[in-house]
Amino acid sequence: MEEYMEREDIIKKLESDLESIKTKNDLQTIKASYLGKNGIVTNLSLKMKEIPNEEKKEYGKFLNLIKEEVTTKLNDKEQELDKMLLDMKLNNEKIDITLPSRRSLKGSIHPMTRIVEELEDLFVSMGYDVISGPEIDTDMNSFTKLNLPEGHPARDAQDTFYLDKDYLLRPHTSPAQVRTMEANKDKTPLRIVCPGKVYRRDDDATHSHQFMQFEGLVIGEDISLADLKGTLELFAKKLLGEKTNVRFRPSYFPFTEPSCEVDVTCFKCGGKGCSLCKQTGWIEVLGAGVVHPNVLRMSGYDPEKYTGFAFGPGIDRFAMFKYGITDIRQIYTNDIRFLEQFDRKDVD
Ligand code: DAH
Repeated sequence: MEEYMEREDIIKKLESDLESIKTKNDLQTIKASYLGKNGIVTNLSLKMKEIPNEEKKEYGKFLNLIKEEVTTKLNDKEQELDKMLLDMKLNNEKIDITLPSRRSLKGSIHPMTRIVEELEDLFVSMGYDVISGPEIDTDMNSFTKLNLPEGHPARDAQDTFYLDKDYLLRPHTSPAQVRTMEANKDKTPLRIVCPGKVYRRDDDATHSHQFMQFEGLVIGEDISLADLKGTLELFAKKLLGEKTNVRFRPSYFPFTEPSCEVDVTCFKCGGKGCSLCKQTGWIEVLGAGVVHPNVLRMSGYDPEKYTGFAFGPGIDRFAMFKYGITDIRQIYTNDIRFLEQFDRKDVD
């Protein structure tokens, strides 16, 4: 039959049309050319009215068959294309787990924070409270009430940054002594440490305009120089190692009487003599003394009843020694290459 031949031809043509297409757009075009308004199959349907009545049934069957076949082939192709496109997408998006990952920056604990925490733990274990004071303080708290009245020559030694005539960037943590005594009003025993930043007009490899001190103050009945010695010996050995020896030299501070400077065995050579300790075997680490009666009196403590001791190490050099830092300014410039060396696992 003529019609059946035509059907085979149509299917063959459809198969060859579909063979080379790669996109859904192409498929859409082909679909339209068969089933669309002017499509091959549509035109065949339109022919129905020209078919003699007795053949209409047969022609109808033929039409249904061909529509079904064309639709199936188009659907199959659509599925095939969907799968191909999905495969392509999956292939392109494949994750290569052998590629190195992007490095995420991990924070680390700053060397000064470590030293401060270590010292705080030690003093808290001996019954001290940890306090903090403001970095901008008064001339009164920083000097006058520490027995350095206006015009006192020792004021010059501090190279202080003044903000105006009354306020300054504290050049030492000693105003913490004044603040603590005034807040406690003659109460004893008083045991505090105060870590904090201090500022001076100084700047070279071993001096920074900003550095850290760790003030200590103890007041009570019968507190003596012997208590100060015992405390500082323990402090030095705990922080720098049991083999560390401590040496006390007489010195002068307006806020203590007697006053001393304290040296420890050189961290670098262990006491043999090297360039760091200038061949002496000793390194000076702090000033200390028995609190001057004037200081007690000015902040409301009766020097007839109470005595005390105080000390004030600069603690940057402990960090420099512990972590092998050669330039103090590195501690404060926040260079990430410097800071990331102090990853917990490396130094603890
Ligand atoms: N404030 C002194 C300084 O900055 C250090 C100091 C010496 C603190 C003796 C004290 C002390 O508490 O008793 O150089």
